[in-house]
Amino acid sequence: MSSSSCEPNAIVAIDGPAGAGKSTVARHLARHFGLLNLETGAMYRAFALKALRFAVPLDESKALEDLAAETTICLEPGEDENRVLLDGEDVTGLIRNQIVTDAASRVSVFPAIRVWMVRLQQEMGATGGVVMEGRDIGTVVFPHASVKIFLDAAPEVRGLRRYDQLGQRGDQATQPEEVIRNLRARDERDRNRPDSPLRPAPDAVLLDSTHMTLEEVVRAAEAIVQAKLGQPLSSS
Ligand code: DC
Repeated sequence: MSSSSCEPNAIVAIDGPAGAGKSTVARHLARHFGLLNLETGAMYRAFALKALRFAVPLDESKALEDLAAETTICLEPGEDENRVLLDGEDVTGLIRNQIVTDAASRVSVFPAIRVWMVRLQQEMGATGGVVMEGRDIGTVVFPHASVKIFLDAAPEVRGLRRYDQLGQRGDQATQPEEVIRNLRARDERDRNRPDSPLRPAPDAVLLDSTHMTLEEVVRAAEAIVQAKLGQPLSSS
């Protein structure tokens, strides 16, 4: 891991819709600049998993709020992805399937759930030195982040990337058309919820990766961060 030559307390906010390349970019930036990588989507996913397990209706705000009151969620940054602890149980391998993905988007519309999550995320990033990835990092969680990048791409391109990722994980059950359809439905919900809808912060740098390879997106993001934070001491 390399270390950043300046601003060790930097906060780098990476926001954008599903499949835009946020995780790849955030992981690389964290390694390259010597920061911790925190994936906030994994927290919504872990809570959604608990709601599904307890058969709490995903559209009942009060029931979800009561469930949240007796839930602990912890992210442990690792080299590749975050380890996600739900009430002390490692659920990292259980939160990426389509059912949990859809449920995470549903539970995330409720203000009480968002207030709880945002507070946890602010605590986790309080000392800085983090890349935080999500939907509302630059707008709500850390509006004064040192660097804000909003990653986007056409839905078809994002859907196909997501399809490839599912294939790499051995999940070939879904057709590309279905992945794109699910992604559009999630986009619609994430972008149009009244509380903290997905949108770029006014001071975010927009990066549209529709016609870029992930490698190109990573290099472009690195250049944006470097321009703000300075050169890392050694590169990865
Ligand atoms: O980034 P992800 O695909 O793991 O996120 C799963 C869902 O969680 C996403 O559809 C919306 C919600 N989410 C959110 O509302 N705010 C965040 N900061 C991160 C995720």
